[in-house]
Amino acid sequence: MTNTELWRQAAQDIHWYQAPTKVLDSSNPPFYRWFPDGVTNTCYNALDIHVEQGRGEQTAVIYDSPVTDTKRQYTYAQLLSEVARFAGVLAAQGVTKGDRVLVYMPMVPETLIAMLACARLGAIHSVVFGGFASNELAVRIDDATPRVIVSATCGVEPSRVVAYKPLLDKAIELAQHKPGSCIILHRPLQDASMVRGRDLDWAQAMASAEPADCVPVNANDPLYILYTSGTTGQPKGVVRDTGGHIVALKWSMKNIYNVEPGDVYWAASDVGWVVGHSYIVYGPLFGGNTTVIYEGKPVGTPDPGAFWRVIEEYKVKVMFTAPTAFRAIKKEDPQGEYLVKYDLSGLQALFLAGERCDPHTLEWAQEKLQIPVIDHWWQTETGWPICSNCLGIELLPIVPGSPARAVPGYDVRALDGEGNPVTAGDIGVLVIKNPLPPGNFTTLWNAEDRFIEAYFSKYPGYYETGDAGYIDENGYVFVMARTDDVINVAGHRLSTGAMEEVLSDHDDVAECAVIGVADAMKGQLPLGLLVLNTGVTKAPGEVVADAIQHMRDRIGPVAAFKLCAVVERLPKTRSGKILRGTMRSIADGEAWKMPATIDDEAILDEITAALRELGYPMG
Ligand code: COA
Ligand code: AMP
Repeated sequence: MTNTELWRQAAQDIHWYQAPTKVLDSSNPPFYRWFPDGVTNTCYNALDIHVEQGRGEQTAVIYDSPVTDTKRQYTYAQLLSEVARFAGVLAAQGVTKGDRVLVYMPMVPETLIAMLACARLGAIHSVVFGGFASNELAVRIDDATPRVIVSATCGVEPSRVVAYKPLLDKAIELAQHKPGSCIILHRPLQDASMVRGRDLDWAQAMASAEPADCVPVNANDPLYILYTSGTTGQPKGVVRDTGGHIVALKWSMKNIYNVEPGDVYWAASDVGWVVGHSYIVYGPLFGGNTTVIYEGKPVGTPDPGAFWRVIEEYKVKVMFTAPTAFRAIKKEDPQGEYLVKYDLSGLQALFLAGERCDPHTLEWAQEKLQIPVIDHWWQTETGWPICSNCLGIELLPIVPGSPARAVPGYDVRALDGEGNPVTAGDIGVLVIKNPLPPGNFTTLWNAEDRFIEAYFSKYPGYYETGDAGYIDENGYVFVMARTDDVINVAGHRLSTGAMEEVLSDHDDVAECAVIGVADAMKGQLPLGLLVLNTGVTKAPGEVVADAIQHMRDRIGPVAAFKLCAVVERLPKTRSGKILRGTMRSIADGEAWKMPATIDDEAILDEITAALRELGYPMG
């Protein structure tokens, strides 16, 4: 079947106010447009349609929060009622089609309600992960220029209550753009001071709200902006359209994950990340499934049996999380003693993504669960899997270390630096032949030139994934590493370039480098090396502590920046380029060659000593 025929058929499975007469508009590459004259609504396809088709009493959302000891469920009919009313709240604040609404929320059902309410009005949401600090939030406020911000008084981490409101207030103070209003969900654990004339209380606003109906939008109108790390401190605002997104995600629920309406599907991630957008919120609701919002961790809430408890309690059929979660469980319960306490007979498959899945973790999960454990590869930009074993089509042999083959709709190639195909089994840059399938990003918000430049300019005719790897003779893809300075910490995508910008901004720092080093649990961790300004008299330890706090204040705790040392100099090439790759190899204990262009070989001895002080190479 041709690509357009595949998506023409898949498009018949969703609700359109006006069905598209054209499948793909290729007239302006790389700005491909799927279903260009279709008219639809995301919220209608997620909620109204199921209620109309008789699924109103089925559970749509299960909220399970071990950190607040709360459990709550919504049927599709209840969720629709809440969403329609919250859409009314937003409309009363002047939000209309095309307006942006920023959502800075913890893992509670109201986050999903806010997102769907935006979709109902044709407004564009931009969800910001709760682990980001005020400065990162301010950057996103200025880029998205939201009319309204929706937030909560706090998030809850196992070790502490994170007061969101002061972070939000500070961000609005830092930002040039000011929202018209903020709607704040009060959580019992934390109060917050409200700004008169700007802040509204969620519950009060809902009490008097008139429900709002779905606004039909063009298939190519944006549904959301999701910021992700690029190579600089300015994050990339990935834009997702409406029609292609509904078509692709609905198709993926059946064909990739093999879940049917009524099945319980659980993505243990956070709504602040793409996995949360696609597979906590939209995919399962388009599919008429039951989705789980879990406000907890794989370990410590209260123990490494937490995931198994949820699977048993709600009869989860398919689960999705990051390998790091399994490494965390394996570390605390290597024998699986917690696992055997629960009835996991309903669980049919585990999907892993977000970072490279080491074969050891995959094999451990497979051995303990005795079900297919499926590694699949995707990115914020693609919004759904590029490569996967498609359970709903055919379960291919599982090869640990590989997310299997390209999913229908994706044509993945490995190229050399000149853009020529490499031989099967040889490492190359991983690219996808244009056009990207429906549901992939359509541009970067406010940055069309960057969209072309960052993804489509180096290898004409292809989308550059930023990942390197190889494809074997059987078409199995192996994703090995990033080709840029993006690192993956506990499944969270972070930019070392952005971290360097933060450190360089510190008064005592003359020069710095941040590299991603291997970590047994989180996959990678950022490690910073600082060269201090001449005349700094503070003790190195004091500057390091200060720099760590500086990073936490500027990027947020999610940066997990704790490894840092002061060095005399940084190794560079004769042309002045910092040798980050060599330092990373030393830190990871890999074989490395003295770069021919190095300026001064002796510096590497100093760096090796500093890394050793920090415990690297490990073991
Ligand atoms: N709001 C505020 N702070 C947050 C936060 C949020 N939503 N999420 C994380 N943080 C904080 C954590 O409390 C931690 O702070 P600390 O330095 O004070 O301890 C810091 O950010 C780093 O968080 P994290 O990297 O998640 O580490 P962790 O030690 O708390 O947990 C794991 C480690 C592996 C258990 C956890 O990362 C996990 O479950 N990951 C897998 C699932 C996942 O979410 N994947 C994402 C994409 S699929
Ligand atoms: P994000 O945009 O946060 O989803 O991160 C995307 C990046 O995570 C990819 O470009 C890869 O580097 C990495 N990644 C995601 N899934 C996988 C996987 N299954 N195998 C290897 N790397 C992965």
